[in-house]
Amino acid sequence: MDFGMENRLSKIFKPKSGKTVMLAVDHGYFQGPTTGLVNLEKTIEPLGNLADCLFITRGMLRNCVEKKITSSICLRVSGGPSILRELSNEDIVVSIEEALRLNASGVGMSIFVGAENEDRSIVNLGRLVNEAEKYGIPVLAITAVGKEMGRDARYLGLACRIAAELGSRIVKTYYCKDFYKITESCPVPVVMAGGKKIPEKDALKMTENAIKEGASGVDMGRNIFQSTNPVKMIKAIKAIVHEGADSKEAYKLYSKK
Ligand code: R5P
Repeated sequence: MDFGMENRLSKIFKPKSGKTVMLAVDHGYFQGPTTGLVNLEKTIEPLGNLADCLFITRGMLRNCVEKKITSSICLRVSGGPSILRELSNEDIVVSIEEALRLNASGVGMSIFVGAENEDRSIVNLGRLVNEAEKYGIPVLAITAVGKEMGRDARYLGLACRIAAELGSRIVKTYYCKDFYKITESCPVPVVMAGGKKIPEKDALKMTENAIKEGASGVDMGRNIFQSTNPVKMIKAIKAIVHEGADSKEAYKLYSKK
């Protein structure tokens, strides 16, 4: 691996644990002002420096993030449709030059396996990998799950494997039963997205399970920024991901006055 690629990956995955706690705040790129992200600046202010990496769009990075932030940046570079339309109709909307200008340590886009525009999203992933690899930028592929698409290990395993085959350096997917089957058949690091907000105790248990089943960390949004106490929640997640805490210990940390 060349220096640029390796160095950027080390800004996402902490060298000591080899894992990452990414904070996903990109939801607005198709759903507008999401609960918890209405004032993104306010959301990020206490959390930004606690995350290893922020997963964010370029507009929000420019306008809502303190320039001295210590966490690295992974830039969402796909977009197109809003929540009102067919979500798989995405394209790549940010150039690699822009990612370099914004000092991104990675770029990310969604693929829509099984959806109307499956093939276009996968071809776009190949194109993005071609461009990003030239400059040593890792590509993170997200296995988007539409309303009609399943969330079982067979479906998500298929999507993750395709993402890795196309050259993604990191894959983000959702937790499901037999999650280990996904990580087992995916040769690149898999990070878990949190999905819809669930009780803190359950989100911590899901994180513990994902790590035990081979995840290299999380790229979590709603279960952190919609938590009653986002700062305590990200600290509890970090304890599981980086320090090997179990969910009970992490929940104690979360509940501590
Ligand atoms: C979807 O909008 C994005 O890919 C999110 O970054 C991803 O779903 C992770 O966020 P959450 O943990 O809220 O699902």
